[in-house]
Amino acid sequence: MQIMILPDSAAIGVWAAGHIMRRLADRRLRVLGVATGSSPLPVYDALALRLPRSGGRNVRADPESDKDARAEASLRSLTAFALDEYVGISPDRPESYHAVIRGEVTEKLGLDPARVHVPDGTAGDLEKACREYEQLIAEAGGVDLQILGIGATGHLGFNEPSSSFSSRTRVKTLAPQTRRDNARFFASEEQVPLHCVTQGLGTIMEASELLLVAYGEHKAPAVARAVEGPLTSMCPASIIQWHQDAVVLLDEAAASQL
Ligand code: GLP
Repeated sequence: MQIMILPDSAAIGVWAAGHIMRRLADRRLRVLGVATGSSPLPVYDALALRLPRSGGRNVRADPESDKDARAEASLRSLTAFALDEYVGISPDRPESYHAVIRGEVTEKLGLDPARVHVPDGTAGDLEKACREYEQLIAEAGGVDLQILGIGATGHLGFNEPSSSFSSRTRVKTLAPQTRRDNARFFASEEQVPLHCVTQGLGTIMEASELLLVAYGEHKAPAVARAVEGPLTSMCPASIIQWHQDAVVLLDEAAASQL
């Protein structure tokens, strides 16, 4: 595991975007795992700035232009899989992760909506939908690079404490702390769903590369437990210590308890 401490969230976004563009240029990134929450937003913003259509730099005038053009072409044909979704929230609602991914990823990066997948939290048969989601990831050849945030509970995706390290996409109950944390996206805490669908820790660990992003002092305890604590399902993110290719991008505040 590689830990990088950068000045702030913007610098984290720029580093991650550069890394993703390099992987795209090298054709090592065809399937991207995307995350919701506020942590990955600087990554998506910095990636969007690399694209000429959004007012980013003119790649044709750059000495690296061939590489950049290749990366941009690969970006346009990316397949993406989101980590999780609330149960019972329609994809049209702004609180849904479908809507967040649509706005922050698909539209911002100009991805083909047909290639961007989010777990179905409104399916009549949720277990079947979970199995089909796993199948879809497998058919795409697996995730090459997975972007991750970390919850205050130490969750990855919505894998709350006590999640099995070998878990697959399934329905989970949200921890009270997570419902409190995510209440800011809803009219009230009561409206935060009780359940979610999330890729499992076993699913996440199959990605070839993990890129975990965290900034701010409020993330420091969870980061310390994930990165330096014992491997325990009580801190699901500690499983990244086991991944052979994980990069953790932090600002000074998030790294302050290391
Ligand atoms: C949500 C998401 C997680 C995310 C976490 C942290 O609960 N399901 O994938 O990592 O929030 O969110 P934030 O980055 O906003 O702190």
